[in-house]
Amino acid sequence: ETGRLADGELAGLHVLVTAGPTQEPLDPVRYLTNHSTGKMGYALAQAAQFMGAEVTLVSGPVALDEPQGVHTIRVQTAQEMFDAVREHFSQADLTVMAAAVGDFRPEHRSEQKIKKTGGAMPPIVLVQNPDILAWAGEHKRADGSQVVCGFAMETQDLLANAQSKLQRKHCDMLVANDLNEPGAGFAHDTNRVVILTPQAADTSDGGASTPRVRVEPLPLMDKRDLAARI
Ligand code: CTP
Ligand code: CA
Repeated sequence: ETGRLADGELAGLHVLVTAGPTQEPLDPVRYLTNHSTGKMGYALAQAAQFMGAEVTLVSGPVALDEPQGVHTIRVQTAQEMFDAVREHFSQADLTVMAAAVGDFRPEHRSEQKIKKTGGAMPPIVLVQNPDILAWAGEHKRADGSQVVCGFAMETQDLLANAQSKLQRKHCDMLVANDLNEPGAGFAHDTNRVVILTPQAADTSDGGASTPRVRVEPLPLMDKRDLAARI
């Protein structure tokens, strides 16, 4: 795969990548988040840069070094990630959303630290965050000159769930992984994924059939090699 990395295949193209988790604050000391470490997204950004692209990486809070030669924008919340993506999306030829975006945030962010009162537990009311990938799928240029790739992390019904995300969010490609698969998912240096792409519609029945999807299972791979492949 290293041969694929150096050949300038993406020269002249702009690539936008999201990576890492989001943090959704409850108060000045606490937040809701997830186990994402950003490894897959950072590997994607670095691979695109090696392949000659101009890369913008919108990253949630992670412990990784910024990839060399990549314009990295650090954000905390899903809303901040959304704002940064909206600012850069129209320039992007390829957009790959590997971030584990918090689906929900606390409705209120307390100005002060929430204190124990000795009484009832404080309730946490959640509201839904914007779906950044769905927004990109809706707003990409209609002429096919912008490619949008999403990820899906599932714990059950991998293919059915991934296929529905591919279609619902108007993705050109979806990289799906099963959290229960050995060596896949959070924090590992490897990942095992299935790549889904929409197939040209079968018109023999007047377009009545459900849209077809090409499914390509990949072996367990180092995230850097997988990034280049994606
Ligand atoms: N995503 C996003 N914005 C969100 C939620 C998800 O951009 N608010 C993106 C992720 O970066 C990923 C894809 O959507 O590329 C799928 O994320 P996932 O959490 O698997 O799917 P959801 O649509 O959020 O569905 P659910 O979590 O309910 O399975
Ligand atoms: Ca989600």
